[in-house]
Amino acid sequence: MSTFTIDTSTSRATPSPVPGKRMTAPSIRARKIDGKTEQPVVMLTAYTMRMAQLLDPHCDMLLVGDSLGQVIYGLPSTIPVTMDMMCAHGAAVVRGSWHALVGVDMPFGSYEGSPEQAFASASRIMKETGCAAVKLEGGIAMAPTIEFLTHRGIPVIAHVGLTPQAVNILGGYGARGKSGDEAKHIEDDAIAVARAGAFCIVVEGVMEDIATRIAKSVDVPIIGIGASAECDGQVLVIDDMLGMFERTPRFVKRYDDLASRIGEAAAAYAGEVRSRSFPTSDQTYKPK
Ligand code: KIV
Repeated sequence: MSTFTIDTSTSRATPSPVPGKRMTAPSIRARKIDGKTEQPVVMLTAYTMRMAQLLDPHCDMLLVGDSLGQVIYGLPSTIPVTMDMMCAHGAAVVRGSWHALVGVDMPFGSYEGSPEQAFASASRIMKETGCAAVKLEGGIAMAPTIEFLTHRGIPVIAHVGLTPQAVNILGGYGARGKSGDEAKHIEDDAIAVARAGAFCIVVEGVMEDIATRIAKSVDVPIIGIGASAECDGQVLVIDDMLGMFERTPRFVKRYDDLASRIGEAAAAYAGEVRSRSFPTSDQTYKPK
């Protein structure tokens, strides 16, 4: 069942609730010319319609990350995230946006088996959400899958470095690339996924110099998170940058302290309910 509105007044492929110019995979790719990006790519995660509406005017890309497992569902990692979750939240974010390109994460177990499995999952995500791209984690091992998808009409955002779906192999969420061998491996991963056709690459949780080198040597936009200011763009998890959690990872900058402000608002409400000072005549109905 279709959960989004086709923008029939333009020829744009990506559905949009209002006629407009939604960013496309080629327009993001074209931000980097001859190894340089004049206008850095702004990406944030979004998981709900309302948050998408608020972020859309400020972002080039909205990512429906599988981080929603922890952020929205309180799961211990991204491993248990399902296709149903990604499709439901992806459709909500597409409905709440009109300008940004919406990319949706392929959840763990939905693409690693074979390129054919990845195509079945990615095409379901695109049909059910109206998103314009999918993201998958992995480097050299995923290059044939990325090539398979891009040759079949599916724009792919690759994700290398710290890949949270591999937490059980990596043994944690620490920064990657501390040894020379590991650094070389991450750079080779980025080169491989770019050659395979990814139109941009998320580089997460790596030593700064690795991300800087990748941004200089790979010709598609590199979107950093815990990476380097030299990247072609940046992404953060929205709840992290809004200060919704007590713990702030090193790579996050808090732009607000929403957790405290929500706590204060809830405490004020609770006090007024208990003292019967809410509702007042302003919030009650009376016969005219
Ligand atoms: O799932 C996610 O939110 C992500 C970003 C951190 C890049 O993959």
